[in-house]
Amino acid sequence: WPALLGAFVFGYVLGSIPFGLVLTRIFGGPDIRSIGSGNIGATNVLRTGRKGLAAATLLLDMLKGTVAVLIAHHLLGEPAAIAAGLGAFLGHLFPVWLGFKGGKGVATFIGVLLGFSWQAVLIYAGIWVAIAFITRYSSLSGLIACAATPAILWTLELPTPAKLFFVLAVLVFVMHRANIARLISGTENKIGQSTVKS
Ligand code: G3P
Repeated sequence: WPALLGAFVFGYVLGSIPFGLVLTRIFGGPDIRSIGSGNIGATNVLRTGRKGLAAATLLLDMLKGTVAVLIAHHLLGEPAAIAAGLGAFLGHLFPVWLGFKGGKGVATFIGVLLGFSWQAVLIYAGIWVAIAFITRYSSLSGLIACAATPAILWTLELPTPAKLFFVLAVLVFVMHRANIARLISGTENKIGQSTVKS
């Protein structure tokens, strides 16, 4: 248990680094929380028009999850990797440094997934790109790909990570409740477009 708790806390600290906020602050511009959806993630950074910063946010918000899982796995094995992945994801959603108001979890979800299976990430990316190509909704693409992930992992014979990602997918849906309401009412922002803050 101390090892699992240590892995969880290690993951949480890494996951709680809000790269979208940090990068937009370093490279100038308005507080990312005051524009677009108000979210600190890559989709909202893209609404500033700075594609490079958005790509860097996506990559770094992913990699903090990947690094947490791989280091915990290397040092302590799969149970610790699960704890570190959960910690990184919760750190991104609820960072102590920002009064527990963080991101919605999609990038860190993918990064934690990469720590367990690159094959699963390829399938995830295929689903995301297909839905985004058809609908232009980043939120819907992430929601559908996240919902599919436990089944993807189960198919790849990774039952323990599959259980973790069932929990993470539920949390992704909870964090996207405002997006889901906008999708239902037909007012969700499309990729690169900004009107509503919530
Ligand atoms: O994961 C975030 C994305 O799915 C939606 O972001 O800024 O449109 O709420 P946003």
